Amino acid sequence: MSAIEDPSACHYWLYVSRCILPPNWVDAAVEDILRVSRIRNESLGLTGALLFTGNRFAQYIEGPATHVAIAQSSIERDARHGDVQTILGSARKERMFDDWSLAYAGPSLFLTAQVDAVIEGAPRSAEQLLAILREFATPDT
Ligand SMILES: Cc1cc2nc3c(=O)[nH]c(=O)nc-3n(C[C@H](O)[C@H](O)[C@H](O)COP(=O)(O)O)c2cc1C
Repeated sequence: MSAIEDPSACHYWLYVSRCILPPNWVDAAVEDILRVSRIRNESLGLTGALLFTGNRFAQYIEGPATHVAIAQSSIERDARHGDVQTILGSARKERMFDDWSLAYAGPSLFLTAQVDAVIEGAPRSAEQLLAILREFATPDT
Protein backbone atom coordinates (compact mmCIF):
# COMPACT_ATOMS: atom_id res chain seq x y z
CA MET A 1 0.00 0.00 0.00
CA SER A 2 1.42 3.42 -0.87
CA ALA A 3 1.76 6.16 1.75
CA ILE A 4 -1.03 8.16 0.09
CA GLU A 5 -3.53 5.30 0.37
CA ASP A 6 -2.58 4.56 3.97
CA PRO A 7 -5.19 6.16 6.31
CA SER A 8 -2.53 6.59 8.99
CA ALA A 9 -0.33 8.59 6.59
CA CYS A 10 0.61 12.13 7.49
CA HIS A 11 0.26 14.74 4.75
CA TYR A 12 2.74 17.58 4.58
CA TRP A 13 3.45 20.82 2.78
CA LEU A 14 6.78 22.67 2.63
CA TYR A 15 6.79 26.12 1.04
CA VAL A 16 8.82 29.29 0.92
CA SER A 17 7.38 32.80 0.57
CA ARG A 18 8.41 36.44 0.66
CA CYS A 19 7.43 38.66 3.57
CA ILE A 20 5.78 41.83 2.26
CA LEU A 21 5.43 43.76 5.53
CA PRO A 22 7.18 47.05 6.29
CA PRO A 23 10.27 46.32 8.46
CA ASN A 24 8.85 48.07 11.53
CA TRP A 25 5.74 45.83 11.50
CA VAL A 26 7.53 42.54 11.02
CA ASP A 27 8.23 41.57 14.64
CA ALA A 28 4.66 42.16 15.76
CA ALA A 29 3.31 40.41 12.64
CA VAL A 30 5.45 37.30 13.20
CA GLU A 31 4.33 37.19 16.84
CA ASP A 32 0.73 37.45 15.68
CA ILE A 33 1.20 34.72 13.04
CA LEU A 34 2.72 32.38 15.65
CA ARG A 35 0.02 33.07 18.24
CA VAL A 36 -2.91 32.53 15.85
CA SER A 37 -1.31 29.63 14.00
CA ARG A 38 -0.39 27.66 17.13
CA ILE A 39 -3.99 27.79 18.36
CA ARG A 40 -5.42 26.93 14.97
CA ASN A 41 -2.91 24.18 14.23
CA GLU A 42 -3.63 22.55 17.55
CA SER A 43 -7.36 22.56 16.82
CA LEU A 44 -6.75 21.11 13.34
CA GLY A 45 -4.30 18.44 14.56
CA LEU A 46 -1.47 20.05 12.59
CA THR A 47 2.17 20.21 13.61
CA GLY A 48 5.15 21.84 11.94
CA ALA A 49 7.74 24.57 11.95
CA LEU A 50 8.10 28.12 10.64
CA LEU A 51 11.38 29.76 9.77
CA PHE A 52 11.75 33.49 9.12
CA THR A 53 14.95 34.85 7.58
CA GLY A 54 14.09 38.55 7.85
CA ASN A 55 12.51 38.72 4.40
CA ARG A 56 11.45 35.15 3.62
CA PHE A 57 9.35 32.52 5.35
CA ALA A 58 9.80 28.77 5.04
CA GLN A 59 7.19 26.57 6.66
CA TYR A 60 6.50 22.87 7.00
CA ILE A 61 3.05 21.76 8.16
CA GLU A 62 1.81 18.22 8.52
CA GLY A 63 -1.30 16.34 9.59
CA PRO A 64 -4.57 15.01 8.13
CA ALA A 65 -4.82 15.80 4.39
CA THR A 66 -8.04 17.84 4.65
CA HIS A 67 -6.66 19.95 7.50
CA VAL A 68 -3.35 20.59 5.76
CA ALA A 69 -5.42 21.77 2.77
CA ILE A 70 -7.49 24.12 4.98
CA ALA A 71 -4.36 25.72 6.48
CA GLN A 72 -2.69 25.85 3.05
CA SER A 73 -5.54 27.82 1.51
CA SER A 74 -5.53 30.27 4.46
CA ILE A 75 -1.77 30.68 4.23
CA GLU A 76 -1.80 31.14 0.43
CA ARG A 77 -4.26 34.04 0.62
CA ASP A 78 -2.60 35.74 3.61
CA ALA A 79 -1.63 39.28 2.53
CA ARG A 80 1.37 39.42 4.89
CA HIS A 81 3.44 37.44 2.41
CA GLY A 82 3.52 36.65 -1.31
CA ASP A 83 5.34 34.50 -3.91
CA VAL A 84 4.27 31.34 -2.07
CA GLN A 85 6.23 28.51 -3.73
CA THR A 86 5.56 24.87 -2.92
CA ILE A 87 8.82 23.00 -2.38
CA LEU A 88 7.49 19.62 -1.22
CA GLY A 89 4.01 18.25 -0.72
CA SER A 90 3.07 14.62 -0.23
CA ALA A 91 2.45 12.05 2.50
CA ARG A 92 4.71 10.12 4.81
CA LYS A 93 4.21 7.47 7.48
CA GLU A 94 5.07 9.53 10.54
CA ARG A 95 5.12 13.13 11.68
CA MET A 96 8.43 14.98 11.79
CA PHE A 97 7.30 17.63 14.31
CA ASP A 98 5.19 15.57 16.65
CA ASP A 99 5.68 17.90 19.62
CA TRP A 100 5.16 21.28 17.98
CA SER A 101 1.94 22.96 16.92
CA LEU A 102 4.31 25.43 15.24
CA ALA A 103 7.97 25.51 16.20
CA TYR A 104 9.80 28.72 15.24
CA ALA A 105 13.31 29.60 14.08
CA GLY A 106 14.17 33.30 13.72
CA PRO A 107 16.51 35.20 11.39
CA SER A 108 20.14 34.22 10.81
CA LEU A 109 22.53 34.44 7.86
CA PHE A 110 22.78 30.67 7.84
CA LEU A 111 19.02 30.24 7.44
CA THR A 112 18.92 32.93 4.73
CA ALA A 113 21.54 31.03 2.72
CA GLN A 114 19.60 27.80 3.15
CA VAL A 115 16.31 29.30 1.95
CA ASP A 116 18.07 30.97 -0.99
CA ALA A 117 19.49 27.57 -1.98
CA VAL A 118 15.97 26.10 -2.00
CA ILE A 119 14.63 28.94 -4.15
CA GLU A 120 17.53 28.44 -6.58
CA GLY A 121 16.71 24.71 -6.72
CA ALA A 122 20.08 23.55 -5.41
CA PRO A 123 20.34 19.74 -5.18
CA ARG A 124 19.13 18.29 -1.86
CA SER A 125 18.44 21.78 -0.52
CA ALA A 126 14.80 20.96 0.43
CA GLU A 127 15.90 17.95 2.49
CA GLN A 128 18.62 20.07 4.11
CA LEU A 129 16.09 22.79 4.93
CA LEU A 130 13.84 20.23 6.58
CA ALA A 131 16.71 18.84 8.63
CA ILE A 132 17.63 22.38 9.70
CA LEU A 133 14.01 23.20 10.61
CA ARG A 134 14.00 20.18 12.90
CA GLU A 135 17.34 21.10 14.44
CA PHE A 136 16.80 24.83 14.91
CA ALA A 137 13.12 25.10 15.74
CA THR A 138 12.67 26.04 19.37
CA PRO A 139 9.54 26.19 21.50
CA ASP A 140 7.94 29.46 22.53
CA THR A 141 8.52 29.60 26.28
C1 LIG B 1 4.10 32.91 7.07
C2 LIG B 1 2.73 32.53 7.58
C3 LIG B 1 2.55 31.30 8.19
C4 LIG B 1 1.30 30.92 8.67
N1 LIG B 1 1.14 29.70 9.24
C5 LIG B 1 -0.08 29.29 9.63
C6 LIG B 1 -0.29 28.00 10.18
O1 LIG B 1 0.62 27.20 10.35
N2 LIG B 1 -1.56 27.66 10.54
C7 LIG B 1 -2.61 28.51 10.40
O2 LIG B 1 -3.72 28.15 10.74
N3 LIG B 1 -2.44 29.75 9.91
C8 LIG B 1 -1.20 30.17 9.51
N4 LIG B 1 -1.02 31.43 9.03
C9 LIG B 1 -2.09 32.39 9.19
C10 LIG B 1 -3.13 32.20 8.17
O3 LIG B 1 -2.60 32.70 6.98
C11 LIG B 1 -4.43 32.91 8.57
O4 LIG B 1 -4.21 34.24 8.91
C12 LIG B 1 -5.14 32.25 9.74
O5 LIG B 1 -4.99 30.87 9.71
C13 LIG B 1 -6.64 32.58 9.69
O6 LIG B 1 -7.18 31.99 8.55
P1 LIG B 1 -8.38 32.63 7.72
O7 LIG B 1 -7.89 33.96 7.23
O8 LIG B 1 -8.63 31.66 6.61
O9 LIG B 1 -9.51 32.77 8.69
C14 LIG B 1 0.21 31.82 8.55
C15 LIG B 1 0.40 33.06 7.94
C16 LIG B 1 1.66 33.43 7.45
C17 LIG B 1 1.85 34.76 6.80
